Amino acid sequence: MSKLKIGIIGTGGIATWAHAPGYQSVPDDCEIVWACDIKEDVLTKYADDLDIKNRTTDYKDILNDPEVDAVSVCTPNIAHMQPAVDALNAGKHVLCEKPLAMNADEARQICRAAENSGKILQVGLQQRFTAEGQFMRQYIDTGAMGDIYYARAQALRRRGVPGWGVFIHKDLQGGGPLIDIGVHILDFTLSMMGYPKPVSASGKTWDILGKNPELWNGLGDYNRDDFTVEDLAVGFIRFENDAVVVLESSFMGNQDGDPYGTNLYGTKAGASVYFGDPGITIFTEENKQLFNMKPANMPDVPSAHVVEVQKFINAIKNGEPSPVPGLNGLILNATFDALYKSTVTGKEEPIDVSF
Ligand SMILES: NC(=O)c1ccc[n+]([C@@H]2O[C@H](COP(=O)([O-])OP(=O)(O)OC[C@H]3O[C@@H](n4cnc5c(N)ncnc54)[C@H](O)[C@@H]3O)[C@@H](O)[C@H]2O)c1
Repeated sequence: MSKLKIGIIGTGGIATWAHAPGYQSVPDDCEIVWACDIKEDVLTKYADDLDIKNRTTDYKDILNDPEVDAVSVCTPNIAHMQPAVDALNAGKHVLCEKPLAMNADEARQICRAAENSGKILQVGLQQRFTAEGQFMRQYIDTGAMGDIYYARAQALRRRGVPGWGVFIHKDLQGGGPLIDIGVHILDFTLSMMGYPKPVSASGKTWDILGKNPELWNGLGDYNRDDFTVEDLAVGFIRFENDAVVVLESSFMGNQDGDPYGTNLYGTKAGASVYFGDPGITIFTEENKQLFNMKPANMPDVPSAHVVEVQKFINAIKNGEPSPVPGLNGLILNATFDALYKSTVTGKEEPIDVSF
């Protein structure tokens, strides 16, 4: 099989430090042949650095090239849906950054396009490919945890509003920490639980700290008047299989540090899985004795982003299903829609993941 030809749509941060190294890590299998960005200077730097000859400010040029097999959609959330749908309709495989879309309606359109085209749609959710994800997958698959019926997931930053990009603009992002970093930890949690189907959710968001110009921010400065997203979101999500997930996500919150991980409650064992310190702890009982276990042979995974891209390429080459299916992205978007709606209505809201 000849090398797969790849186009990159949106050549900013994630395209530079995640997608490019991912494709470059398998040079016998693929090559980046097109780069697209609406900002000429960003495009030129990216294409020059990677020696990409075909450059455009209109992604449709990439889709019109019959040689192109697949695209990475690395644009801000507002510009995920249209390029993804157009690419799938043009017969290209799509690796679309997270969140899949601004909301469930958009996510549905992308999933439908993938189903109609028969092409691979992979969502850029890489946490499950981390060392922690691979370790826990193997442990859970042995049955050692039993059924996981409850989880408490946290993606919390004490003072971490992104001071770059469009992350504080609700109209361009669809939301704040919930949709930006909560998406990763909820995806990780649900993938560990076997991706149960959510049925309803109750949530609450605040934006008090994020708008306060007096407060220090650890990720660069930003105009407090432009802050239109939440700074903290909490949610209670019910699933068809009777499981529940409690989710907390913040860009700013008066808590101890930046906990980023999940706590899984199984019928046979529990696990606390944090990225970075304190890592993984597994809680078991044997013969009425309680044990807290730490892993001693974690897999060596230098970059989960690279693994993600390699899995995308392998799935295309081998005709395998998407490593992170569009439906996962739709489930996440539909859950966030319900949580955002609930904060307005004050009620538990239904979640519809049909498409
Ligand atoms: N998976 C992860 O861990 C991870 C990490 C960071 C960002 N992301 C996601 O990646 C996406 C991009 O984030 P980023 O940090 O790279 O942002 P960025 O602002 O650095 O880059 C986005 C680029 O897209 C370009 N762009 C905007 N609209 C376009 C269009 N219609 N056509 C072509 N180019 C267009 C912009 O000019 C910009 O250069 C977001 O959806 C974000 O959520 C994912």
